[in-house]
Amino acid sequence: MNILFIGDVVGSLGRDMINEYLPKLKDKYRPHITIINGENAAAGRGITEKIYRGFLEAGAQVVTLGNHTWDNREIYDFIDNAKYLARPANFPENNPGKGIVYLKMNTDEIAVISLQGRTFLPPSDCPFQKADELIKEARERTPIIFVDFHGEATSEKQAMGWYLDGRVSAVIGTHTHVQTADNRILPDGTAYLSDVGMTGPYDGILGMDREVVLRRFLTNMPARFEVPKTGRSQLSAVCIEIDKKSGRAKKMERILINDDHPFYS
Ligand SMILES: [Fe+2]
Ligand SMILES: [Fe+2]
Repeated sequence: MNILFIGDVVGSLGRDMINEYLPKLKDKYRPHITIINGENAAAGRGITEKIYRGFLEAGAQVVTLGNHTWDNREIYDFIDNAKYLARPANFPENNPGKGIVYLKMNTDEIAVISLQGRTFLPPSDCPFQKADELIKEARERTPIIFVDFHGEATSEKQAMGWYLDGRVSAVIGTHTHVQTADNRILPDGTAYLSDVGMTGPYDGILGMDREVVLRRFLTNMPARFEVPKTGRSQLSAVCIEIDKKSGRAKKMERILINDDHPFYS
C-alpha cells in the first residue's frame, strides 16, 4: 500500500500546485491514499470548508491540520461534520473536531493521526501519551497507522519517531515548512522524516511574503505576515510503501518539486 503525504499547503499558490501536480504524482507513485496537511491553506491561516472539499475533489482522502487549526473562523461551522479532517489529537478534550480519521478501502483500513509537539509551540496535552492512547485504539482495527507530527523541534520529532517505532507505519513531521533530508525506515519498521516541507510560494520565507518577514527581523517591530499570490511555487511531499499485513514501511521517497528540483514523470 502506498501513502502519499503532501506537506503544509500555503495559500492559493499552494492550492494551485495541488491541482497541477496531484494528478501527475498519482500517475507516478500510484498512492492508495493521499493525505494533505492544510493548516495554512486559507491565505496562510487555517482552512475553509470550500478548500477542504477542494482537496478531496482534487484527489486527497484525508486532510490534517496543526497549530493554525482555529485561525479561520469558518472552521467552527464545519469541523464536526468534516469526516476526513484531523486536527491535533492532543488539543484539550472538549475541543471540536477529532484527531484520528479511519479510512476504509475495500478490505483495508488506515488510521491517520494528527499530533502536535509541545516544544516552541502553544501548550497542549502530552503528544506521547495521546499517541499511546490512540494507537491502542487504532491497532484493534488496523496495523496501518500514519502519524502527522506537527512540531517545531527536530529533537521532539525524532523522539516521537523512536517512541512509535514498530507501533505505527509512519511518523512524518510537519510545521517547519522546510523539508529535511533525514528520511529513513527505523529498525522496527516505522518510516520517519523530521519534516516533509511546504507546498506554496517558493520565493518567500516559509511561504510568507519575504519583505514583511525581513522587515520584522530588521526592525523588531510587529508586521502582519502576508502570503504572496503570484510568483514561483513549490510542492513538498513524501511517498511511503507499506506492507499492509504487518503495517511496516518498506520504502519511502521524498518529493520536492520547484524550479531547482524539476518534476520528472
Ligand atoms: Fe504550516
Ligand atoms: Fe504549523
